[in-house]
Amino acid sequence: MESANPVPAHVPADVVVDFDVYDPPKLDQGLQQAWMTLQQPGGPSLVWSIRNGGHWIATRGEDVAKFYADFERLSSRVLMVPREKMIGNRPIPISSDRPEHTAYRGAVNPSLTPRAIQEIEAGIRALVVELVDAIKDKGRCDFVSEFALVVPLTVFMRYADLPPSELPRLRELAEEKVRPTGKMTPQQIMIGFADFLRPIVEERIGAIDRNDMFSRVLSKEVFGRPVTVDEGIRLCSQIIVAALDTTAGTMAHIFTHLATHATARRDLREHPEKIPGAIEEYLRRFPLVAMARYATQDFEHDGITVKEGDLVVLPTMLHGLDPTITASPYEVDFERKNPSHSSFGQGPHRCPGATLARLELGAAVEAWLDRIPEFSIAEGSPIKYHSGLIGSMSGLHLVWPTGENTQK
Ligand code: HEM
Repeated sequence: MESANPVPAHVPADVVVDFDVYDPPKLDQGLQQAWMTLQQPGGPSLVWSIRNGGHWIATRGEDVAKFYADFERLSSRVLMVPREKMIGNRPIPISSDRPEHTAYRGAVNPSLTPRAIQEIEAGIRALVVELVDAIKDKGRCDFVSEFALVVPLTVFMRYADLPPSELPRLRELAEEKVRPTGKMTPQQIMIGFADFLRPIVEERIGAIDRNDMFSRVLSKEVFGRPVTVDEGIRLCSQIIVAALDTTAGTMAHIFTHLATHATARRDLREHPEKIPGAIEEYLRRFPLVAMARYATQDFEHDGITVKEGDLVVLPTMLHGLDPTITASPYEVDFERKNPSHSSFGQGPHRCPGATLARLELGAAVEAWLDRIPEFSIAEGSPIKYHSGLIGSMSGLHLVWPTGENTQK
């Protein structure tokens, strides 16, 4: 564990906690449970962690949502703790602030709007069916690496028109990002993505005759001029990195729930029209993201002073599972009306990939339940939760009957 840091003078002693965002307590019980240890009835709305350089953590759902949207007082220039992790790492649009952010976001949005995604929806659904068909006769799989990660990766290969010969390289980088083995440092992974993307970006900047996802981003102008190669690499690598582990991690949580709840499986199998609502409820129940923000000015919150330069971590888990916002928050209830969450963030940086993510998750649940109606977690399967900026899961082995018991 990273060593403790001295507590600054403006931090009251009774809000100091020993909470390592990369190794929180009770992580073996679930990623969300681990973060929820910070939310105590009547407890402080901001706590100060002595780990990872020392930083604030917002503990109330309402504040998490408000702070994500508060781009004036809370900048995105530092998104990770400790702050040194941002050195040499300036992904865009995510680590930019207005007015730059508005320009970069303008390049990203058009290829991910609900309308743009609707155009590729049928293709994505067919692709997901192919992926389920490819493993359904095996009777078992390591769910994260053989399916949850393969879905967003394959969608990207196709809609960003990436060379299929590059799939193994991209997959290795993505796996290392989602389930780090220590073989590569986070910096080496980002350099790997950048090296992979460089020739693609160089070829596609301003390629208005191409219609793939990356060419659409790279043909937009920013600040009244074309995107540079450096900006293009940072934009495309951020889109791809932001799309993979979040979607894979959410899918792994959803399938863990389905594997252990026969009524949920039956309900969605018999009523596929309920799947979009169920995905929304799953997004509320299983948030994964805890980004940081950098205070641009001193401000008071609930009698506590946040100083300019302080970092504030905003765990989306503490919104989705806040019992003052959602009754019985640990329960997955497909009938819940408008589940309240910040799982895609809030405000100007709110996830532009939300429509695509919802589609991939819904298509995966529908295609899987249709072809593999019954499945469970393999006995002795050592599920491991990983915490950090984006939480994840590994070791989820699913098993199911094959042969004549397999449908379709
Ligand atoms: C279940 C899956 C996903 C989750 C939970 C998720 C979550 C998030 C969150 C919480 C943010 C806001 C970060 C912040 O405010 O600092 C974000 C931003 C972003 N996401 Fe997603 N995301 C998902 C899928 C995707 C997909 C599929 C794509 C692209 C195809 C994508 C692309 C992005 C990009 C580019 C940003 C940065 C936006 C900006 O800074 O303006 N995400 N995502």
